[in-house]
Amino acid sequence: MATSIAEKPWTDEPLALIPTPVFESKMHNLFTNGASHMCMVHNSLFRGYNSIYQQAPYIADADKLAFIGYCLTWYKFLKTHADNEDISLFPKTEELLKDNTIFEESHKEHSSFKPGLAEFHDYLTSLKSPSEFSGSKLLEIMATFQEPLDKHMRSEVATIAALSSHPGTPKEGSKEEKAAQQAFDTREGNNLIMSGMTDVLPFFLFNYDSGYEGGIWADWPPIPGLVRWTIMNVAQILHPWWKFASCDAQRQRRPLYAVPGPGNI
Ligand SMILES: [Fe+2]
Repeated sequence: MATSIAEKPWTDEPLALIPTPVFESKMHNLFTNGASHMCMVHNSLFRGYNSIYQQAPYIADADKLAFIGYCLTWYKFLKTHADNEDISLFPKTEELLKDNTIFEESHKEHSSFKPGLAEFHDYLTSLKSPSEFSGSKLLEIMATFQEPLDKHMRSEVATIAALSSHPGTPKEGSKEEKAAQQAFDTREGNNLIMSGMTDVLPFFLFNYDSGYEGGIWADWPPIPGLVRWTIMNVAQILHPWWKFASCDAQRQRRPLYAVPGPGNI
């Protein structure tokens, strides 16, 4: 009997995916677009978190080393994402709008989940051997920062979307708006590539559901198909852990590898 995606658990829990401001408002100005792109990165981080959370209790001894690598790649993705915002996106946006109060809360929110995230990293890197890995211990650590992470990732999207009505925002359709959009897209794209071409970038792509919100994000980010194919295939040659990801090399959602049961979506 065919099962629908909605009937079986997938990586949309415990962290519920965030709807994009473009999907909700149908607007396409600088900050609605920017917040939506940010939202798609956050959703990939959420699918990563959820895939770790759901599979951690079921990891066989033979898979523990690879799973630890998968978890540490998620850690690197989130850590570099937050660090890049603190040193690049937030100050550049405040500079554009001549308002250095915009991201005060976001900076504080970063501090609210970073200690738990550091513990996640320290636990995984201090194991004497992969066989020592305990799924229940990892879940215990994840529980310490799940709520502040969830809150921050949602509120940051809302904060950026709300800048559409900031008095310093370039007028919709103006040359200034186009230039700002291009500068933001280029900088954020480069930041993601610099974070790790063979680990962070493929982690983002292997947890990116191209069918999300009816497929309106299937062509984003604007990486040519052949380049994306190469990035994902090289990553598969280099690292054994992509089987734990929530999507396949075509960025289609798939059953989680380690969760028991036939086809769990
Ligand atoms: Fe973010």
